[in-house]
Amino acid sequence: MKLTMTEIFEIKELLYGLHRTEEAARMKRYIQHGAISTYDHVVSVVLLSFYINRRFHLGASDAELVRGAFLHDFYLYDWHQNGYPGRLHGYHHPKIALENAMQRYALTPVEQNIIASHMWPLTLFRIPKSRAAFIVCLTDKICSSYETVMQRKQRRRKESCGFE
Ligand SMILES: [Fe+2]
Ligand SMILES: [Fe+2]
Repeated sequence: MKLTMTEIFEIKELLYGLHRTEEAARMKRYIQHGAISTYDHVVSVVLLSFYINRRFHLGASDAELVRGAFLHDFYLYDWHQNGYPGRLHGYHHPKIALENAMQRYALTPVEQNIIASHMWPLTLFRIPKSRAAFIVCLTDKICSSYETVMQRKQRRRKESCGFE
């Protein structure tokens, strides 16, 4: 994936400072997978979603895609440490992320659906209803799988040199 400097600048403009808030700083402290923070994860999903939309000319609204992708995991807790909803995190966190985001920002229906449906088909009845929501639903799975594989590699590396 290669985005141009102009595209990166465009993405930052479209985020309207969402990535510079106190909550975004908190997301840097929560671990998503391995050593990847929730912030790093959502930024990966933003960049890959934008890239896929542009390069494949899918025609999703860039602004909604970027904002929805950034907020898709706005649940604001460390899911490895929470008693609840830790085990059921996968199912519950889109709803929590949506509530958190709606308390702070005016979201379009497309942005709301991006957040609510990103775990589909796990969340059976919360279905992606736009191109942007389908893109985020797909890129979230790609990024999560990549992060999980990297985590396993890291663990194997540690084990092979006698750690853990
Ligand atoms: Fe998620
Ligand atoms: Fe995610």
